[in-house]
Amino acid sequence: MTFEPEVRERLERDAKQIIGRYPKPRSALLPLLHLVQSEEGHVSQDGIEFCAEQLGITPAQVTGVSTFYTQYKHQPVGEYHVGVCINTLCAVMGGDQIWNELTEHTGVGHDEATPDGKVSLERIECNAACDFAPVMMVNWEFFDNMTPEKAKQLVDDLRSGKEVLPSRGPNKLCSWKDASRVLAGFPDGRAHEGVQAGPESLRGLELAKQRGWQAPSSDTGKAAPHEPVQAREITDPPPNEPGKPIGGDVKPGSQEGRNQ
Ligand code: FES
Repeated sequence: MTFEPEVRERLERDAKQIIGRYPKPRSALLPLLHLVQSEEGHVSQDGIEFCAEQLGITPAQVTGVSTFYTQYKHQPVGEYHVGVCINTLCAVMGGDQIWNELTEHTGVGHDEATPDGKVSLERIECNAACDFAPVMMVNWEFFDNMTPEKAKQLVDDLRSGKEVLPSRGPNKLCSWKDASRVLAGFPDGRAHEGVQAGPESLRGLELAKQRGWQAPSSDTGKAAPHEPVQAREITDPPPNEPGKPIGGDVKPGSQEGRNQ
């Protein structure tokens, strides 16, 4: 199957715009793969051949890149692609348990979609959100401080069409195809919506401001302006039970805070 003429025309127009952003056409391969993924929901053989033609490279070269990065899917995924972080910190905070219970609950495994095509699951590595572990993602938006119960509820809500909001970021969860189009370089205008960095992520900055700490001078010939931090100067964070959200009042950056 090849792209319908009107689809191909639209893709060629978008591809031209993407390629024009780079000094060499082949540098545009990653966003171009997201573009074809935004059309079909995955990178098909047609998509691979389209990218190769547009960039003047071989389908084998495109395949080599698209199979290296796990963000490119070679089988259809769900409208909502759900990632469960099973990297070290999330795993010990409950990520492994979430993965086990979620696969049992949905009956699907890694990179597989539910029969209704609504949800697919992926075991993902660190999402650079360890301060909110265990973390999940839906179409690359964050769901922080998850538990097995919250994870199952999230997937049930997505399948039933109930609106859910990520813990941080945009005020609307877009589809997998729409997220792929944003990654291709066509912003949806939502990049600055919602909570950008949660309180946990800003704790270090807050402490530095309170104590007047500054980054060392970039001039390596000069002495660092401050003495090293002493252990007694650092206060302990409040205790937290593994797998449970950080206690206290509901925070603006928490999933509970947005989905009540
Ligand atoms: S280990 Fe899960 S976000 Fe870092």
